[in-house]
Amino acid sequence: MEMPVVAASFLAADWFDMRSELTRMESAGVDWLHVDVMDGRFVPALSFGPKMVASLKPHSRLPFDVHLMTVEPESLVSDFISAGADSITFHVEATVHAHRLAETIRGSGLRCGVSIVPSTPASLLSELLPIVDIVLVMTVDPGAGGQAMIPACLGKCSSLAADREARGLSFLISVDGGINAETAGQAGAAGADVLVMGSALFSAEDPKAFLREARASWAAGRRAP
Ligand code: DX5
Ligand code: ZN
Repeated sequence: MEMPVVAASFLAADWFDMRSELTRMESAGVDWLHVDVMDGRFVPALSFGPKMVASLKPHSRLPFDVHLMTVEPESLVSDFISAGADSITFHVEATVHAHRLAETIRGSGLRCGVSIVPSTPASLLSELLPIVDIVLVMTVDPGAGGQAMIPACLGKCSSLAADREARGLSFLISVDGGINAETAGQAGAAGADVLVMGSALFSAEDPKAFLREARASWAAGRRAP
C-alpha cells in the first residue's frame, strides 16, 4: 500500500530532552526529522539554528529536513549544509533569487524544497518546479506549532499534483501546519505525499498508534474517488 512520508516537527518536542525525543520519534516510525528554523524576522519567533542539526545528526540515520522560515535564506544555507542537513526548504517569499538558491542547494547534493505561505498562490512556483525535489505547502501561517489547518490551502496541493503529472515532474508535495489524524486524510485526498506533524504527533500518548491512524487516514483519503 502506498504510504505518506511522515516528518516529525521538532518544534513540538520537549527541548529539555532532545535526545529522548529523537529516540521516541525514531521508534514510533517517522521517516524524516523536520527542523523549523525561525529568525524573528520572516516570522516573529526564534527557534533552532544549525547547531541543533549538528548535535542531533550523529545520533540518527533519518534524513534531516530543514525548513527555513527566514529572510535571506541564502545566508544560512552553507551553515546548515555543514551541519548535516539532508534537505533544505526555503520560502519563495523570502528571496528574489530562488533559482540560484535551489541550484546551490542541489549542487551540494541535498534535496531542495521551496515553500509558500497560505497567501501565496502555487502558480508562483511554476518556473521552479523542474528544479526542486519538494514543494512544501504551508497549511497554517508559519510561526508557531499547534494552529488549526486552513483547509483552503489544500487546493494548492491538488493543482501542484496536476501540474506535476502534466509536466512529467517528480517533486514531493509536503503539507505543514495543523496536520493530525483527521486532516491527514484531507491531505491525502488533495495529493500530499509528505505529512509534517508537530503537536499532534508529539502530544500523542502512543505515537506509534497515532502514526498508524494518521497513515491509514491519509491512505483512505488518497484512495477516495
Ligand atoms: C509552523 C512550522 C510547522 C509546525 C507544525 O510554523 O513550520 O512545522 O511546527 O506544527 P503543528 O503540526 O503543531 O502545526
Ligand atoms: Zn515546518
